[in-house]
This record gives sequence, C-alpha cells and structure tokens, in this order.
Amino acid sequence: MSAAQEETISVPASYGQTSNTLAQYEQQYTRSIGSVAGTADRFWIEQASRLDWEQRPTRGDESSFDPVEIRWFADGVLNICHNAVDRHVAAGRGDDRAIVFEPDDPDGAVRRLTYRELQAEVVRCANTLKAMGVGRGDRVTIYLPMIVEGAIAMLACARIGAVHSVIFAGFSADAIAGRIADCASEYVICADEGRRGGRIVPLKANIDTALAKLAVKAVLVVRNTGAPVPMQEGRDHWYDEASRDVADTCPCEPMGAEDPLFILYTSGSTGKPKGVLHTTGGYAVWAETTFRAVFDYRPGELFWCTADIGWVTGHSYIVYGPLLAGASVLMFEGVPNFPDHSRFWQVIARHGVNIFYTAPTAIRALMREGTSYVEGHDLSSLRLLGSVGEPINPEAWQWYHEHVGASRIPVVDTWWQTETGGIMITTLPGAHGMKPGSAGKPFFGVVPQLVDNDGKVLDGVAEGLLCITQSWPGQARTIYGDHDRFVLTYFAHFKGKYFTGDGCRRDADDYYRITGRVDDVINVSGHRMGTAEVESALDSHHDVAEAAVVGFPHDIKGQGIYCFVTLNAGIEPTESLVAELKQQVRAQIGPIATPDHIQFAPALPKTRSGKIMRRILRKIAEHEFDALGDTSTLADASLIDGLIADRRNAG
Ligand code: WTA
Repeated sequence: MSAAQEETISVPASYGQTSNTLAQYEQQYTRSIGSVAGTADRFWIEQASRLDWEQRPTRGDESSFDPVEIRWFADGVLNICHNAVDRHVAAGRGDDRAIVFEPDDPDGAVRRLTYRELQAEVVRCANTLKAMGVGRGDRVTIYLPMIVEGAIAMLACARIGAVHSVIFAGFSADAIAGRIADCASEYVICADEGRRGGRIVPLKANIDTALAKLAVKAVLVVRNTGAPVPMQEGRDHWYDEASRDVADTCPCEPMGAEDPLFILYTSGSTGKPKGVLHTTGGYAVWAETTFRAVFDYRPGELFWCTADIGWVTGHSYIVYGPLLAGASVLMFEGVPNFPDHSRFWQVIARHGVNIFYTAPTAIRALMREGTSYVEGHDLSSLRLLGSVGEPINPEAWQWYHEHVGASRIPVVDTWWQTETGGIMITTLPGAHGMKPGSAGKPFFGVVPQLVDNDGKVLDGVAEGLLCITQSWPGQARTIYGDHDRFVLTYFAHFKGKYFTGDGCRRDADDYYRITGRVDDVINVSGHRMGTAEVESALDSHHDVAEAAVVGFPHDIKGQGIYCFVTLNAGIEPTESLVAELKQQVRAQIGPIATPDHIQFAPALPKTRSGKIMRRILRKIAEHEFDALGDTSTLADASLIDGLIADRRNAG
C-alpha cells in the first residue's frame, strides 16, 4: 500500500455547515450499537420516530444470529408508501418536487412530478393493481426500464401490501422465468419497450417468451415507446386503458413492521440467484436514516443516483431512501456514454444536481475518455459525490474528486450489499476525513469484525474476512422460501456472525478498505454475477463437456468474466463456437453476463477427488502464473503449462 493511498484528505472548509460532526458521530455510534445496555433500542426508536406509524414500535432489535431470526420494531404498524408519499403531502409539502425524470434522448421530454402528483399516480396504479386482483402478500414482478412508472409501481405495490420483485430490464427471458417461478408471482408489470443508450429493449417480447411455459393471472403493460406489441386476450392489459376509470383515492394498507416489502434476486456462490427478502419497518428506517446522514441531504436539493431500480441501489437510493426523506430525486433513463461521454455532466448542469451517486465502473470509463468531456459543464451545483458497487481504485477516486468535484467537495465511498438493505460502511461528510479507496467507518448500528479463514477474530490493523456481529434494521430477513439457504449462505461460515463474502483491511485509524469478494461471485461493472450461473449456461450447450468460470481484473468493469471450457470429444474449437457460447450466456442470463474471454482447454485442473481447482484457474486468468500455489494435489499437473501458454496468447 503506497503512502499516497493511506493519505487522509480532510473535508474542505468550503463544504459548509453540516449535520454531521465527528463528536456527534462518535456519540451516536456508541449509542446505536448499544455499548451501554438499552441505548441501542432507544437510538433506533428515535430514528424510527421520524416516520409515521399507525402503531408506534415499543421495541427495536429482537434479532438473533444463532439461531437465525432477524426482527426489528416487531410491534410497529406502518405503511412505507404512506411515509414516502402521503406523509409529505399531508405535511404541506405536496408542491415540493419528488421526481425529475431525464430521458435517454437528451431532446426527449423531461418529466417532473411533485409529491402531490406522485401521490395521484401511485393511487392510480394501486387501484389498477387491485382491480386486476392483486392483494396483500401477493408477489408482483416488475420488469420496467428507468421510467417514473418503475418507482410508481413499486410504491403502488407497497401501498396495498403486495410484495414487489423488480427484475433489471437487462435480464433475459430465461432469467425472468426463473425469478417469476421462484416466488410464484402471478402478476407482472412491464412496458412495451425500453430505451437505453439509443437502443430499444424488447421488454414485452421478453416477458412473452418468459411466460410461454408459465401461467400468470395478469400482465400490465405500460405504453412507453408506443411500439405495437402482441397482447394476449384476458391476460395482458394496457396500463393507460386499465387505469382510466379507477378511483382517485386508495387507502394505505396497515402493515406489520415484519411484513414483507420486497424480494430482490441476487447472485451468490452457488446455484440459482437468491430471492433476498426485506421487510417493511426496519428497511424503511434504514433507508431513511442512511440517506439523510450519508448524503447530508438539505431541503430543496436535488439528489441523483445513477443506478437502475432493478438493483438494490435503485431501491434504496432512487426510491425509498430519498422519498422517505422527502427529498427531490433525479431519475435517468440513459447511460453515461450516450450520445457522448459528457452525458452525466450535461444532466448535472441541466438540472442543477447537488448530490451525485454513481459507480466506479462509470467513473473509470469516463476517466479513460479524458477530462475534455467534463470541462465546459457547469458542475458548481454539486455539493457531495458518492461511489457504490465495487471497490474504487485510488486513481479513479482522485479523478472523481478532482475533475468532477473540483477538489472542493467530499466523496463518500459507500460499502453495502443487497442483503444489508442500505449503506453499512462509509465516511460521513463533515465528520470524517477521506482516504481514497477506503470505504471508511461503520455506519450507526454496524459492528464489523475481521476474521481469518478459521474464524479467529483479528484485532487492530489486519486483513481478513468481513463479518458483522449484530443485526441492524435494514438487514435481509431471509431468502424467499428457503430460510435454510439463508442460514447456510450467511451464518454457517462463522457461527453467530453474518459473513459478507468480502475481504477487507482495517488500518491504524480504524478505516475499512474492502478488497473484493472472496467467494465465487464476480463483480462485473458493479453487478454481482455468480460463476456457477455462467457455468451452468455454458454447460447447457451441446458441445460443452465442462466449464469453469472465474473473474479477472478488468480496467473498466473492475472484473471481467473468464471462462475455461472443455469441449466434447471430436468438437473443434472455432471462432463461431465462441460466439455461440457467448450468445448462450446472454440468452440464459442477459447481456451483463457476456463472457469477456473463452479459453478452450483440453481438460480442467482437478484434484484427485475430481474437484475443479478454481484457485489455480483464477491465478491463470489473472496472469499470476508464479502464484499458482500448491499444485501437488492436482491429478494431472502437466495440464497447467498448456493452460498458461494459451492464456498468454489470449493477451
Ligand atoms: C461490492 C450493491 C467495495 C462488495 C450495493 C459487495 C463494494 C457487493 C462497495 C454487493 C464499495 C459494494 N467498496 N466494494 N463501496 N459497494 N461493493 O449486492 O463486494 O449488488 O459484497 O449491492 O458489491 O453488491 P450488491
């Protein structure tokens, strides 16, 4: 670690008044984790009291990690849609801007919704869902592009007590079918088509393919591009038609704090994607509290998170966090490089964005294009920058700080996961100095711990596996329909602790630096990909005998997807087969999973008991040929030289 990377950058004085100071952080942190018995519950009930409850919770944390049962605010009753929308209207903030929509095409129409308008739209959608038969507890699949209807549909589900399962619009029909089947969702909301980076995404067509072998009760189709799409009689309904005559009021369903709010599928080390389940009360408190404190939000400001609502970042920091806090949020349909690499900076200048939250992969891609695209755009409205989704390399951090932030505003590097519901490790602007590449300090209620492979706790300056030792309100409650898998995935490695799957270093100032996944998950452009999923897509090709997939360092994406493939006897490796295999993965998962490299191998390195030695393949993919480690357990060590030679040739 070079000295430059350890350097602490203090928050410039020009940053101005802030709600966070170091003394406040330390005092609040101590209370929030309950260092003094009883303080944690009081702290969290105080945070919860910013929300409206039909029945106020009298208790905070009642969770246990052994046996695993996560429960917060259990006797509270509330509705999160009421809190995110109606509460603000009732408090006289109905004319405040809620959502500003910036379209993919810079010449397209900007849409602005006040909280009052948002309320009317959510009510309309909620009543339409009810008319289709959706009720409390029903799972509703949402497959929409980044248009305001996405946020509206999520809030409408929450309003009537239905559980939303949003699927990123870049996933394929096969991936959708798997997710719909897994949670037995009988209702789907999609659009005719989506737009992204000047291209059209055939959303309804993907849904039709996904539903070829699955029966659902109803599909609600939002007219977005206006393209003609086939509609199945009795099943498919145009949203604009179905919603025309619905009532203009709709009560918010009173929900228990532990009633399910949403399912979000995410990749893990093994098997199919898991349906991570979040419930209502704890998630609401976590999304609101983290949003307020980490982004130091001030009334009237415009917050922009560039994530997609199909990922947890979009759930917590486009929809729930900002709206629960009564903030104004920008929703962007497009991508950073369309029509050109200045798109982000144009949007910031056009709308006067104050807080900007994006992913390292976007920063690296824009950094590569040079500073000319940033220059000439008025970014003076910016007050705070954020990063999320993967480790940010210090070079990208510096570029972001200097060229986007003009070295005058703080950068928060926020570490968290789908399973954590919201931000867990970050600096608080105003309270903490920044170290490029280090996420920083635990947020309120978060108790991180580093352990070695055997579970031995590592104190002080150390590098190890990141665990969290006690529950926090936003923690996932289970994997939908499979609590055993939840326990096995997160709590079995180290009994009594939540294991994150990430490696981490702690320095002398107690700053945490995430080093990346230590399991078989690859982080491609901030998107989690299970190697097992890609392998199973490759394995299903008739010419493939076996495949092993590993990550490798990629300049822009952070990690790329590297596949070692053994073909059936007699099959010749050809360029067209490479293209076919890539296509196979795109069809089964989606374009985000497209392999970067496919290397044909006569065989895969295995132990004598037949286990593929991924550790070795990872090192080969990473070009770390001298670091293969112990190869003595290999059944056929002579294989390795050939794999290395072919890797060298692949560049
Ligand atoms: C990684 C996204 C380093 C990490 C919110 C984690 C990060 C996984 C950071 C979760 C960060 C996320 N620094 N690594 N600031 N933020 N990660 O579930 O490996 O899509 O486990 O949630 O992303 O990805 P997920």
